[in-house]
Amino acid sequence: MKILKSVSGIRKALAEEIKAGKTIGFIPTMGALHMGHMSLIQKSVKENDITVTSVFVNPTQFNQKEDLDKYPRNLKADAKLLKQFGCDYIFAPGVAQIYPKKIDTTVKLDIDHLTQSMEGPNRPGHFVGVVQVVKRLLDILEPNKLYMGQKDFQQFSIIDYMLKKLKMKTKLRVCPIIREEDGLAMSSRNVRLAKKHRPLCTVIYKTLIFTKENLGKKTTKYLEKKAMERLAERPFNPEYFEIVDGKTMEKIKNPDNHKLIVACTAVWAGKVRLIDNMILKGKV
Ligand code: PAJ
Repeated sequence: MKILKSVSGIRKALAEEIKAGKTIGFIPTMGALHMGHMSLIQKSVKENDITVTSVFVNPTQFNQKEDLDKYPRNLKADAKLLKQFGCDYIFAPGVAQIYPKKIDTTVKLDIDHLTQSMEGPNRPGHFVGVVQVVKRLLDILEPNKLYMGQKDFQQFSIIDYMLKKLKMKTKLRVCPIIREEDGLAMSSRNVRLAKKHRPLCTVIYKTLIFTKENLGKKTTKYLEKKAMERLAERPFNPEYFEIVDGKTMEKIKNPDNHKLIVACTAVWAGKVRLIDNMILKGKV
């Protein structure tokens, strides 16, 4: 496995691979890797000749400088894990490589309609930053396949929209949410949870299951309200719990009118913000 930090270095290496007829799978990450990330690596290793993982904490998607500064960085540990799971290249650029002054990396794509709900209003500018970095990485690496997690439902939906709208050739593969044994979705933030809060976090998964079991039996308005109440018990504080159409990200009323329905939530557990979701109907 090679670790490359420059755009020219990774492009040169991948050009050789492509010349040799190899297919390329790509997993964008911000590091602090765990088994959720590894599930994407495993899928890419299975489906491609070469797997490339980027480790880049993208400043343009953070709306709070403190959050950006606090983001865990440990390339050595990440590299060890990636090597173990069969990754071939790590692309670990600095900010100047991704956002050089000479290149306009902004993406001309209107995503306003997909950012009116859930993470959108709560993290202004976040998805514009995500689109910018993923587009830039795809332009650099030109992979055949791109692997993203269902864990960030709105994120992959927006990237899916971008790929289609900009007629990009990379194919998106979405991978299921990997959970801890008690149902808590794996996340780089989980290590920051207070010890006494950790066992209580299973309430998020339980609430999603309850919602799934009751879709069609109770109104979505009732289910959202019930979930918000349940997730408001100490030490939790819910930001949102929304039942939406999985393509448009708009809240739904009648489940019969939608092919893909997903419940998405963001909950504060003390000082840690957790997000999770569950598909209630259909498939991604
Ligand atoms: P990051 O949070 O590091 O996540 C990288 C990828 O891993 C995302 O596609 C995310 O959905 C997936 N992932 C995280 N936890 C997962 C879990 N428990 N199960 C399955 N997949 C999981 O998301 C980002 O980075 C950034 O926004 C990025 C796309 C890299 C752009 O900067």
